[in-house]
Amino acid sequence: MTYDLTIIGTGPGGYVCAIRAAQLGMKVAVVEKRPKHGGTCLNVGCIPSKALLYASEMFAQAAHDFPALGIVVGAPTLDLPAMMKHKDDTVAANVNGVGFLLKKNKVDVFFGTGSIAAPGKVAVSGEDGKVAELETKNIVIATGSDVTPLPGVTIDEKIVVSSTGALTLDKVPAKLIVVGAGVIGLELGSVWARLGAEVTVVEFLDRILPGMDTEVAKQFQRILDKQGFKFLLSHKVAKVEAGSAGATVTVEPAAGGEAQTLAGDVVLVAIGRRPYTEGLGLEKAGVAMERGRVVIDDRFATNVPGIYAIGDVVRGPMLAHKAEDEGMAVAEILAGQHGHVNYGVIPGVVYTEPEIASVGKTEEELKAAGVAYKIGKFPFTANGRARSMRATDGFVKVLADAATDRVLGVHILGRGAGELIAEAAVLMEFGGSAEDLARTCHAHPTMSEAVKEAALAVDKRAIHT
Ligand code: FAD
Ligand code: NAI
Repeated sequence: MTYDLTIIGTGPGGYVCAIRAAQLGMKVAVVEKRPKHGGTCLNVGCIPSKALLYASEMFAQAAHDFPALGIVVGAPTLDLPAMMKHKDDTVAANVNGVGFLLKKNKVDVFFGTGSIAAPGKVAVSGEDGKVAELETKNIVIATGSDVTPLPGVTIDEKIVVSSTGALTLDKVPAKLIVVGAGVIGLELGSVWARLGAEVTVVEFLDRILPGMDTEVAKQFQRILDKQGFKFLLSHKVAKVEAGSAGATVTVEPAAGGEAQTLAGDVVLVAIGRRPYTEGLGLEKAGVAMERGRVVIDDRFATNVPGIYAIGDVVRGPMLAHKAEDEGMAVAEILAGQHGHVNYGVIPGVVYTEPEIASVGKTEEELKAAGVAYKIGKFPFTANGRARSMRATDGFVKVLADAATDRVLGVHILGRGAGELIAEAAVLMEFGGSAEDLARTCHAHPTMSEAVKEAALAVDKRAIHT
């Protein structure tokens, strides 16, 4: 049998692509080298990290916030194995869900390592050493990404861990050293800080969360300071010496200067992720690569006819929803439709407390591009719902084109910001203006009223400040 489409990798990019292609009438096969579907996101990324972030946040609220709400329960005690079980159950439910959906859509599943034997041929090497060959009209590479290593540092996933090891620690480290103040460092640093670890973050740059709106990042760092995080910005790690009970990390100023040492029970290396293409046979197949990423055109096609690529393995932000949307788009293109992804409107969320959510351009990007813009800001201290939840940290910032009022970017620091950003994304997808947002009726009392007020503030007419 010849498949219409064979997809290598069943992370959010691959499995969504498979389902959409099957919906469109294609005969689809997927190849997955892990024993489970769902990729990085469901197994060792988005889902387990959010399960631990939620549970640890409840723990922190019980410890610090309940008395002010008139709830007296005494100091909470941690049952870490039960918290880990909550995480594992959440992962299992999601992973099983993907298996069910693939079956429901009659997608053929092959477990094993996929490689491109030739255009139109995918070899699947099973754990038993047997190799099967699939004939296929088209191939989509959706093999995702892997941890970027820190040169000279061995990750043993016990003392020196990547995000994967940081999701399965069997006890709370007294001292956790995090290398990299990016999304993983701050999310997983938050989990262990809430459970009692003293967290020190070493960051090469002079700021946290590079790429995010600078004003948001600065205010967020002050909040993390209050939560007990220690930051060593503009510092790089020169050496990590791991023993059986902990590690000594030598750090030095990024610009050069005197080194200092930090002692930690666990060191989390979170300096980014890199595309994963090992063993795929791309070189042999003649697929063009650039700095580790598979090169594609705006139809997700590589330079080799019949071979496409999506998700973390190609350009753009390494985000699950970006991979999913690319998966849908390429399936629609292969079916003769006009699938596309609007890269200008891909929300990004950091799931800390408070959360950070952002869509569109930052002020820094608008300045660099010479775009004239207006700003509307509204603080959660002036929002009734935020006060009622004692969640007044943060603000909403709307950036609109000075001439047309079209919304160019929205940045939110606040509880539940990840949910609030969706209305900004819809507005921007429709090319909406700050006036459109300001004239839309928002339910009271909700955190979303702060989004409306920030839109009103673009025209200097916020009501509650
Ligand atoms: P992946 O999910 O990496 O899937 C690729 C799949 O391909 C894997 O299952 C792999 O086993 C398989 N594979 C690889 N090579 C082969 C081969 N040769 N043969 C067969 N199979 C192969 N993103 C968000 O949007 N929100 C979040 O909250 C978020 N949290 C994260 C937290 C952590 C700790 C991490 C590490 C990442 C997080 N991400 C998050 C990023 C997100 O996980 C990725 O962007 C997303 O998984 C990319 O999807 P993908 O389908 O491109 O690749
Ligand atoms: P990141 O790119 O977000 O952050 C890495 C940080 O490490 C940067 O601040 C960088 O300046 C710093 N750094 C790099 N080299 C360094 C060094 N030698 N010493 C000190 N600091 C150094 O990468 P991170 O946090 O590892 O996450 C990887 C990717 O996973 C993210 O970019 C994102 O795409 C995805 N992700 C998304 C999440 C979400 O959407 N909520 C959650 C977690 C991961």
